[in-house]
Amino acid sequence: MTGHIPRACVMGHPVAHSRSPLLHGHWLKTLEIPGGYDRADVTEADFPGFLRHLRQHGYVGGNVTVPHKQEAFRMVDERDPAAEAIGAVNTVWYEGERLIGGNTDAYGFTAHLDACLPGWDNEVRRAVVLGAGGAARAIVHALLTRGLAVALVNRTLPRARELAEHFAMRPSVHAFDELPHALALAGLLVNATSLGMTGRGSLDVDLTPLPSAAIVYDIVYVPLETAFLKAARERGHRTVDGLGMLLHQAVPGFAHWFGATPSVTPDLRAVVASDIRASDGGAGT
Ligand code: ATR
Repeated sequence: MTGHIPRACVMGHPVAHSRSPLLHGHWLKTLEIPGGYDRADVTEADFPGFLRHLRQHGYVGGNVTVPHKQEAFRMVDERDPAAEAIGAVNTVWYEGERLIGGNTDAYGFTAHLDACLPGWDNEVRRAVVLGAGGAARAIVHALLTRGLAVALVNRTLPRARELAEHFAMRPSVHAFDELPHALALAGLLVNATSLGMTGRGSLDVDLTPLPSAAIVYDIVYVPLETAFLKAARERGHRTVDGLGMLLHQAVPGFAHWFGATPSVTPDLRAVVASDIRASDGGAGT
């Protein structure tokens, strides 16, 4: 391994499915930056040693994915405010000798929304977020940061309550039987569950109570257009897909590692979308 060309990696287990090498590789190529981006399949037992010696392994930083995001949160020398609020680290980079841990999911969520529907936050006051996992926590952080009121709806109520307790501006917490009432007040509806993903259960939400001006956002991107998003589009809602969030959340990491801020372009989107279509057995749009 040469010591002169900056390299980053995605650390996970398993990591074969990660699309980060594809998208960072596209940026390295199109920006003509000499650099590399690898897959690092690291078990839970090996992860602490690997992260502690990331630089000695030849890396200027990287992405952290399942199941290491909480361990990375505990291990880094310093965290950015988003990682602190979300309780997980998905991006690491060095500042001098110090390893910094950030979380770019909230950034990716809003950057994509801002790109698709500029000014959306001037019109939307209330959001409904479905789900209470790690993705939901990042999205709640993103929405509260933009000054929205958030209603959190989850199958397992205690999990939603636990999530809400992490935020000073507490989201309200509801079971699915209260969803129709929450929808009637919402300007933005977000699916932050894994439902609707190829191979998982479907997300069955009756959109009738949702005002027609409301925006519907699904973070699932396999398939590229979920049944939930398609139903929303057919009802006339403005829809926002999960692929854009994936692409935008990668921008800050690349900028830290390689010193240039990449753009989310139609070309990049086409490259990643075609990979998703191929792996999704041709399903999706
Ligand atoms: P992540 O951390 O990636 O967001 P997760 O922790 O597995 O993923 O969370 C998945 C979310 O999808 C949770 O909100 C989960 O609801 P529970 O907290 O009740 O488990 C939701 N989810 C998954 N399968 C579901 C189902 N069949 N019905 C309703 N919600 C479901």
